[in-house]
Amino acid sequence: MKIDKIMVIGAGQMGSGIAQVCAQAGFKVLLHDLKTEFVEKGLSVIKKNLARQVAKERMTEAELENILGNITPSTELRNAGTVDLVIEAAVENMEIKAELFKELDQLAPAHAILASNTSSLPITEIAAATTRPEKVIGMHFMNPVPVMKLVEIIRGLATADEVYNTIEDITKKLNKVPVEVNDFPGFVSNRILMPMINEAIYTLYEGVATKEAIDEVMKLGMNHPMGPLTLADFIGLDTCLYIMETLHEGFGDDKYRPCPLLRKYVKAGWLGKKSGRGFYEYA
Ligand code: CAA
Repeated sequence: MKIDKIMVIGAGQMGSGIAQVCAQAGFKVLLHDLKTEFVEKGLSVIKKNLARQVAKERMTEAELENILGNITPSTELRNAGTVDLVIEAAVENMEIKAELFKELDQLAPAHAILASNTSSLPITEIAAATTRPEKVIGMHFMNPVPVMKLVEIIRGLATADEVYNTIEDITKKLNKVPVEVNDFPGFVSNRILMPMINEAIYTLYEGVATKEAIDEVMKLGMNHPMGPLTLADFIGLDTCLYIMETLHEGFGDDKYRPCPLLRKYVKAGWLGKKSGRGFYEYA
């Protein structure tokens, strides 16, 4: 399957990063969101990232212009009618995603692949909202997208081998490393990462150590680039809670029970870095 044009849905942290790496790899990209200001905000993040590469003399001004020239803003979903691949990075809500994929199925050309960057929702269920479940697949990028090498590729129950192979190939073209996983709650990344973060929160909740001490143990003792509480703030505590709830519901095992302290912080609106306060405070 030949992929030339990609539509990225959602111009937030993940969507703008995905659009950036696609444009850098030479693909024509439509960066789509509900409102022009959301798309512009995403574009400004991309410009800032690329300008840093120019300042560090890793990229020329002409290359920057060329990459930006590959990205076209979009606020009309019907623009999906011109693309070969859609990568959806909208909010983590099954109802919204199902509705979106139903519309995309009607709008996108018959050959187009519909991928989701969901961090834990079942690809099989998203695919069931379409009439082309064999062309629906998970393409789970890690945050920050321009830096992290992994893309977890999730096969839904009906995903065709040809579609998997195309997405694996695209991932390599994006200069990322694809890893194949099957469709179970949390896939591999969040099935392992989130219980660790949740356990770190329990450790704080039970007064075993301070937040700084917990982070220091994991940073210096296990060589993690960030301690688990800092990482939770970075990911967003609402996202962490949502993923824990997905694991808890999906497996029905209490070992995935979200820590009450995590629930409390989310209820307080302490969502981490993006809201200015989580386990730590941000200026
Ligand atoms: N966007 C683009 N580039 C970024 C960036 C961002 N948001 N944040 C950092 N960078 C770049 C910096 O510009 C810098 O690049 P250069 O080396 O080219 O100058 C490089 O990354 C390193 O940054 P810093 O020196 O500022 O800081 P650092 O060495 O501490 O690295 C980090 C920052 C890469 C974020 C590192 O701390 C890290 O790897 N943290 C863990 C990240 C992680 O675990 N991500 C996965 C989260 S889970 C997930 O995404 C899945 C999910 O579903 C929840």
